[in-house]
Amino acid sequence: MKAYQLKSGAGLAGLQLAERPSAALGTNDIRVRIEAAALNPRDVSFAKGQFYNPPDHPIVPLVDGCGEVAEIGSGVTRFKLGDRVITNYYPRWIDGSISPAKTSVSFGAQIDGTLAEEITASENDFVAAPGNLDAAAAATLSCAGATAWNALFVAGAAKPGSSVLLLGTGNVSLWALKLAKAAGLFTIITSSQDDKLERARAMGASATVNYRTTPEWQQEVIRLTGEAGVDLVVEVGGENTLARSLKATAFGGTVVVVGRVSGSGGASIEPGALIGGAKRLVGITVGSRATLEQLVRFVDVNRIEPVIDCSFPFGEAAAAYEYLQAGQHFGKVVIDIRA
Ligand SMILES: NC(=O)c1ccc[n+]([C@@H]2O[C@H](COP(=O)([O-])OP(=O)(O)OC[C@H]3O[C@@H](n4cnc5c(N)ncnc54)[C@H](OP(=O)(O)O)[C@@H]3O)[C@@H](O)[C@H]2O)c1
Repeated sequence: MKAYQLKSGAGLAGLQLAERPSAALGTNDIRVRIEAAALNPRDVSFAKGQFYNPPDHPIVPLVDGCGEVAEIGSGVTRFKLGDRVITNYYPRWIDGSISPAKTSVSFGAQIDGTLAEEITASENDFVAAPGNLDAAAAATLSCAGATAWNALFVAGAAKPGSSVLLLGTGNVSLWALKLAKAAGLFTIITSSQDDKLERARAMGASATVNYRTTPEWQQEVIRLTGEAGVDLVVEVGGENTLARSLKATAFGGTVVVVGRVSGSGGASIEPGALIGGAKRLVGITVGSRATLEQLVRFVDVNRIEPVIDCSFPFGEAAAAYEYLQAGQHFGKVVIDIRA
């Protein structure tokens, strides 16, 4: 089978297409013929050697993937031949609270991932894909989708009618917008570009703010919520946004810290920014398989379709990385493994 291999820190020049033997199939393993994979910022970080705990040998990169079960071990009970499955980001985190052991390994970072014609792993490492999505769309759930779900409804505990602030129109935010809209939340989303804000409004955003032309965007968020602030912020910005996000949060509200697209340096926050309004600051890292299964059910029941920017053929995977890195995308960057 054909698979890309990449050693952490080797850069995009190190991304090599190779012929590999199929892995041996264990009793509880399934062999999945991958149809589509998708990129996340962590994959660019891995290429640059900036992702945690990498192995010292090349692995198959990427975590997002969807494909068809092509072979099953004799002890497999969760899937049958022909089922369409997606990867669980942290194969060792099935349910319950987080622990170092559960999050020590993720596909495409410490073990082989999805940028290959097939992947062979325990049946426990996969979840049935939602019935309403094709493979390209289903491939986008494992990382950005599950993270948005966790931020809104697990760590963020949003209720119908809650107000939520989404920062920028990156893929976690767009997933969160889709989910929040379907759940009846009041959504405010920011962007550096008015045309992206227009697209977000067309997707159902309740209100929008251009964070470039309105640098004190937290004031506009407060105004848009009748001076109360939002119940929840999905904080993907980091260094340059965290303090403003806290200001934009209502008394008793929550800031879920997800990412650092604006910078990963220290963000200056006074204790009083949390104490006075009894605000909660909580970090998350993707989620468990149970979290992903909740998302799959919600997507299926509500016929939610993720935003896909574009799809690259398997042979042009490096170009897909470059496109994501350029940062002009609006939606997921997918790789069609069969093209
Ligand atoms: N904790 C976790 O489990 C987890 C999971 C997934 C991702 N992440 C992290 O979360 C972040 C977002 O991931 P993603 O997949 O959504 O990335 P992405 O699609 O690459 O996000 C890019 C977008 O970020 C926005 N952005 C850049 N600077 C900004 C700023 N100063 N203020 C507000 N928005 C800004 C831009 O939106 P506009 O073009 O609209 O301005 C840009 O299009 C990344 O840091 C990623 O590593 C964490």
